[in-house]
Amino acid sequence: MDRAHAEALDRDDPLRSLLERFELPDGVIYLDGNSLGPLPRGVAERMSRLVGHEWRDALITSWNTHGWYDLPATVGAKLEPLLGAAPGTVTVGDSTSVQLFKLLVAAARLRPGRRVVVTEPGNFPTDSYVVDGVARLLGLTVRWWSAADSPDLATVLDDDVAVVSLCHVDYRLGRMHDGPAVTAAVHEAGAVMLWDLCHSAGAVDVDLAGWDADLAVGCGYKYLNGGPGAPAFVYVAPRWLDAIEQPVTGWFGHADPFALERDYRPAAGVRRMLSGTTPVLGVAALDAALDAFAGVSMAEVRRKSLALTDLFLELTAERLASYGVVAEVPRAHAERGSQVCLRLPGAYGFVQALIGRRVIGDFREPDLARFGFAPLYVGFADVYDAVSHMVEVLAGREHERPENTARAAVT
Ligand SMILES: Cc1ncc(COP(=O)(O)O)c(C=O)c1O
Repeated sequence: MDRAHAEALDRDDPLRSLLERFELPDGVIYLDGNSLGPLPRGVAERMSRLVGHEWRDALITSWNTHGWYDLPATVGAKLEPLLGAAPGTVTVGDSTSVQLFKLLVAAARLRPGRRVVVTEPGNFPTDSYVVDGVARLLGLTVRWWSAADSPDLATVLDDDVAVVSLCHVDYRLGRMHDGPAVTAAVHEAGAVMLWDLCHSAGAVDVDLAGWDADLAVGCGYKYLNGGPGAPAFVYVAPRWLDAIEQPVTGWFGHADPFALERDYRPAAGVRRMLSGTTPVLGVAALDAALDAFAGVSMAEVRRKSLALTDLFLELTAERLASYGVVAEVPRAHAERGSQVCLRLPGAYGFVQALIGRRVIGDFREPDLARFGFAPLYVGFADVYDAVSHMVEVLAGREHERPENTARAAVT
């Protein structure tokens, strides 16, 4: 395996030209789009128009004249094809944590009398914290299920389970659940399925309608490239749109916000998932960012994602194993998301040394160097070059240097 082979893969890549839709700094190999996507072209211009004209000149009239009021629906409609979701089922606003809270409470209300929430210990912490918070609020019990310990979810399901809340792709180990099979098992037990798609949306060919999913959330700032702290998306299956009762009953989710009625009446459709005033700056940035996906086939994105991680796995096995580096990700395509973690002593310093060489990934406790492969802008030669830098870091013991081992607040 040499660089010429990787270059040939780039030449044959039907998604290669999408790289031009991003403003990546020269010389950077960006393998952290699973944390914060890079800046798509068009976002800066949209922000400048929004601030310099819509806000400054048109002021409050922009809610009507520049589409601010409809932005959550506009962005939802751009996300639906990326998620395999039917029209009118997705909207945006709030953080993923807040959307999780709203959906968990709503899911429990769809199954009154059932007292258990099932989730995984390996969740991204916010998912577990919010499950715990909602359980305490509603007097539910949390039942932990680990796919690693007992692969069959059905063993923890019974007629007391109201909702199962899982991350589709594990944020550390990159393991991916079988969306349709898990959803079917949950429905078999009469419970509601809530998917966290933070590490799937924009990188994996999610098919919410095909999975028969009930509810889903996901970040706007990872593979969707909506910018730091971008609003999260929320999905509600058509069958629940008229029944769902979310707990943060703010005026933007009201059937007629400007009627200013005393009593809450939920809006029709997924708009009822809104709570307060749309964070226009953030939602508009996500709106512009999603143009990077215009005309892109998610099946093609998935195909390239797997080819990128296959190449990375092959190169790391060939060139890094002798340094004691172990790749932590399922080898089976059906079980793999779009990222790979490398386990090694000194993983924090390893990531810092690579950042010093402009190869950007991130560190996750306790000993994982995590690399995301975003098919829209990562190329095969990037993967080859990144591994070459990794070899040089390890051979030169750069990861042990004090300037690389000193911890920063954000890892
Ligand atoms: C699976 C998962 N859920 C949620 C979040 C973050 O939620 P929030 O946007 O509320 O910070 C992350 C962030 O990395 C995540 O990986």
